[in-house]
Amino acid sequence: MQYDVIVIGAGAAGLMCAATAGQRGRRVLLLDHARKLAEKIRISGGGRCNFTNLHARFDCYLSANPHFCRSALAQYTPQDFIAMVERHGIGYHEKKLGQLFCDDGSERIIAMLDEECRLGGVDRRMETQILKVSREADGFALDADGGSFRAASLVVATGGLSIPQIGATPFGYQLAEQFGLELTPLTPALVPLTFHVEDAEAFAPLAGVSLEVEARAGKGRFRENVLFTHKGVSGPAILQVSSYWQPGMTLELDLLPDADAASWLEQKAGSEQLISNALAEFGWPKRFAEAWLEREGCNKRLKDLSPKQRLQLAERLHGWRVKPNGTQGYKKAEVTLGGVSTKALSSKTMMANAVPGLFFIGEVVDVTGWLGGYNFQWAWSSGYVAGMHC
Ligand code: FDA
Repeated sequence: MQYDVIVIGAGAAGLMCAATAGQRGRRVLLLDHARKLAEKIRISGGGRCNFTNLHARFDCYLSANPHFCRSALAQYTPQDFIAMVERHGIGYHEKKLGQLFCDDGSERIIAMLDEECRLGGVDRRMETQILKVSREADGFALDADGGSFRAASLVVATGGLSIPQIGATPFGYQLAEQFGLELTPLTPALVPLTFHVEDAEAFAPLAGVSLEVEARAGKGRFRENVLFTHKGVSGPAILQVSSYWQPGMTLELDLLPDADAASWLEQKAGSEQLISNALAEFGWPKRFAEAWLEREGCNKRLKDLSPKQRLQLAERLHGWRVKPNGTQGYKKAEVTLGGVSTKALSSKTMMANAVPGLFFIGEVVDVTGWLGGYNFQWAWSSGYVAGMHC
């Protein structure tokens, strides 16, 4: 069957692209191997879909070319997506830091995009395995288990590798390689970090404890909560910084980001109070204070600290260093860092420079957002841009 555009992947970016192209009058076929539409939207934001971020800017994204996402983000902004959400009467609220969530479930966003595709006359086929993609003189030919399809434009929106249990595959990366496009290295990102056995055992009793910190790794620096787990650390501060962490790197946590620990310890120098009790002033849970001080060999009364020990403790409170031994991998990662090299694509259209008519959008591209609605905004923006040019 002949179409103008075939979009592979009915997730966030693919739905946006198909709807946009369809509403331009293009005959669009949207294919997905999964049974259900946009499973990642469904599970996102704890079921409420953090669908954009008011502060989405190019510097909230990681990529070998950090400027690549500028054009798409300018062509389709958070305000454009919010306008669509409002047009569909979907209630939303800002949770924190510009993060917009649905008042009701994420299904509302899926239904909205599905309706936009319907308005564009998009032909959608789920549970379709794509067996072969080849290039022809006037476009692309696809052999799928539901038949053979042809189109002048082919848009690849198959996402990243995270959460394979709901349909993630390396299909998009393999297709890029088939057409000679370069990939940047792929790693799980926005992912919990794991500790070596002895650290994990030491902190296991703290599983569930949460604390506001500034987490630092490489060029990443985020002020949010850390959550101790049975295997290591998670929580927004860690998920954010995980995108900057690489094996072998030390993770540094400022455990008292609002205080000046050296002056505080100085003021309390003569106190009979146990340090673990005094730290409750900063909202530290007692069991965390005790376990942390125990490990630092410092579980004593404030008056028993020498001036040198006070300085050392202050340094560690503002820069506690721990060496993770890895991440919890794609099973727990929200996204994949890396992907189709931006060098191979036009930032204005998302089309492959060397393969006219072939587009890559969304997470399969080497553009990875911070936690907080940035990744969906990239999916909407890149999907829209390709939809306007395919
Ligand atoms: P997406 O993964 O959405 O879609 C890819 C589609 O391609 C899927 O439908 C898949 O079935 C299909 N596909 C894959 N291989 C195929 C093949 N071989 N053949 C045919 N079809 C194939 N982001 C955010 O901004 N706010 C949030 O709240 C969250 N929350 C969140 C929670 C969790 C648990 C995860 C795992 C991720 C998030 N994210 C997020 C990230 C966000 O979900 C992600 O960045 C976008 O869904 C990416 O959109 P894409 O369309 O590129 O891929």
